[in-house]
Amino acid sequence: MTEAYISLTDVHPYQRLLSYPDNNPTQQAQYLRQLHQLGVECLLATGPARLAGLPLLGVGYCGLVIAGIWRGRAVAIKLRRSSCRQANLNEEARILRQVNLLNLGPQLYCQRGDLLVMERLSGQPLGRWLQHLSTEDAPELGRILKRLFWQGFYLDAAGIDHGALRCAAEHAFIDGERLTLIDFSHSSTNRHPNNVTSLVAGLLWGTRLTQDIRRILPLPERDVLLPWLQGYKKQPERLNFQALLHAIGLNEQET
Ligand SMILES: Nc1ncnc2c1ncn2[C@@H]1O[C@H](COP(=O)(O)OP(=O)(O)O)[C@@H](O)[C@H]1O
Ligand SMILES: [Mg+2]
Repeated sequence: MTEAYISLTDVHPYQRLLSYPDNNPTQQAQYLRQLHQLGVECLLATGPARLAGLPLLGVGYCGLVIAGIWRGRAVAIKLRRSSCRQANLNEEARILRQVNLLNLGPQLYCQRGDLLVMERLSGQPLGRWLQHLSTEDAPELGRILKRLFWQGFYLDAAGIDHGALRCAAEHAFIDGERLTLIDFSHSSTNRHPNNVTSLVAGLLWGTRLTQDIRRILPLPERDVLLPWLQGYKKQPERLNFQALLHAIGLNEQET
């Protein structure tokens, strides 16, 4: 994939994406100034997503994520969109910093107001990654799922609710053996964390992802798991978590 440099002094045609879809020159100029102040050296025209015909890393409701270079490093830059319900990215950054202390999430490099600069992840989201698996890959899928549940457990134990793990298909990034949870824009440290519960629901029942997983790895039905899930919900402790993993059939998987 080519990665054309886009200098901040001549950002056209990416100028449009700096306030998408409203095309507001004042906001574009402000974002450019802030990118410069944060130490972003340039943007890169690359990524699997497309907006206005331009390649970028991703498009969400809260932000656009564009590749760039910051202090010589490959980074992902999240720019807040006007459609985002949060007033700025401060809270997302505050939580991502805590998540990084647990050695989870993409490394946050810096953030101010509407812009957040983080480690650029390679690899692909779980949903897309699953499409390339066959039944022979069942052990690899088992290892990845086990890691995903453990990360959910570490977040639960730290009192951080990710808030969008029912959509694990797009919020778990897989790069070889590394699994990284992304997008803490819905996260909170003020509500009861539901990460493991959301993962079980999102991965094991009722979604398109479930079908893709079960095609490769046979997993127990909902009724079988409910008592274990309820046990963990009542007392979200390590032993109960491990019992749940065991009931799912993942505790014996090597990590
Ligand atoms: N650090 C990253 N490295 C590479 N791609 C990323 C990174 N962070 C986000 N993305 C891509 O951008 C998309 C949108 O980012 P996300 O944080 O989910 O935004 P939103 O809060 O708007 O949903 C993600 O689904 C993912 O595909
Ligand atoms: Mg998202």
